[in-house]
Amino acid sequence: MSHVFEVEDLRLAPAYQKIPVALVKGRGCRVWDVEGREYLDCMSGYGVALLGHCHPRVVEAIKRQAELLITCHSSLYSEARAAFLERLFKLLPKGLDRAFLSNSGAEAVECALKIARRYTRRRGVVAMVRAYHGKTMGALSATWEPKYRAPFEPLLPNFKFVPYGRADKLREAVDEETAAVILEPIQGESGVIIPPQGFLKEVREVCDERGALMILDEVQTGLGRTGRMWAFEHFGAVPDAMCMAKAIAGGVPMGVTVARREVMESLKVGEHSTTFGGNPLACAAASAVLDVIVEERLPERAWEVGGYFKRRLQEELEGVGLVREVRGMGLMLAVELRLAAVPRVIPALASKGLLALYSGLNIVRLLPPLVIGRGEVDEAVEGLKAVLSEEWARSKGSSGGPERE
Ligand SMILES: Cc1ncc(COP(=O)(O)O)c(C=O)c1O
Repeated sequence: MSHVFEVEDLRLAPAYQKIPVALVKGRGCRVWDVEGREYLDCMSGYGVALLGHCHPRVVEAIKRQAELLITCHSSLYSEARAAFLERLFKLLPKGLDRAFLSNSGAEAVECALKIARRYTRRRGVVAMVRAYHGKTMGALSATWEPKYRAPFEPLLPNFKFVPYGRADKLREAVDEETAAVILEPIQGESGVIIPPQGFLKEVREVCDERGALMILDEVQTGLGRTGRMWAFEHFGAVPDAMCMAKAIAGGVPMGVTVARREVMESLKVGEHSTTFGGNPLACAAASAVLDVIVEERLPERAWEVGGYFKRRLQEELEGVGLVREVRGMGLMLAVELRLAAVPRVIPALASKGLLALYSGLNIVRLLPPLVIGRGEVDEAVEGLKAVLSEEWARSKGSSGGPERE
């Protein structure tokens, strides 16, 4: 076993389902491990390496900023922060006018929940069945999966869940005590679930009728991943507040919550803060990320290459007995299996040089860099086909039958 595995397994909280790969280097869509083995990365650090690994513009921006100034608390002004904000707000719809800068997706959600309570002076939150918003206590209260929640209960009170896509249930749940409805425009962690057309518009309508805020969590879907800069653009409903993180600073930790001016301005001095939020290093990296997304037209590219990827997966995999469905939008794709994706399928893919994610128990999720090319897509499809065919044959051959999800 690699020394790296030994140290991590001994010293880190056993909080992650580990894949036995120890990385040292990344370029574009490729990463390399301690033994020099190369992998095609369709995991991207859970959707972070949107521009590919170590994009030269991001590396250059980080180097330059690191030599100038790394930390600058938000109680002081920062040139790098202002430059980032100018870029960010050019990409947002009118009405989302103010930001709070933090360090992760969960923190971006915490801020959104706090401002919803602060602005509306109400307590209730309506979230979606199978939602994922992170694992800090507030974000976890809006996360649905019982196995994440149960060990830590009681969580925040007054959170309700309604089935994703069911406007009728939403109407029943949202009342004059509801501060916010929070949802992902496409559910990511639960396996790339696309809502029925019209659902986001109905959420918007219900929120307007009842005076609740609509919070969209674009932590995974934002910045071009689904083929538009923001996934909500596919569905024609603009939220009152929105959360971003993951790819926004190219791998340097950053979370961003944006909201309507009057909503964010309900927050008074000292009511919310974080030491690292808006640090110049993350802001400089984020400016470079936004520049590259715009200049290289990455949302359009994600739409085009993502369409090709989905078609190829459908052509090659839907005939494999193990595969129940291929779905997704842009470069946010899922292959739902008839048996568990962990512990066998994901490590088997890694051993063949393909890094992929799992969602739930039986879904292989693909979040490749948006710069992935058609040749690399073909390579990923081949790898998946080989491993899934082997696993299907193995499961049929084994006396106990398939290892069910
Ligand atoms: C939609 C969504 N919201 C929030 C989070 C939490 O982000 P983080 O892990 O940075 O706290 C995630 C992470 O996967 C996510 O997919």
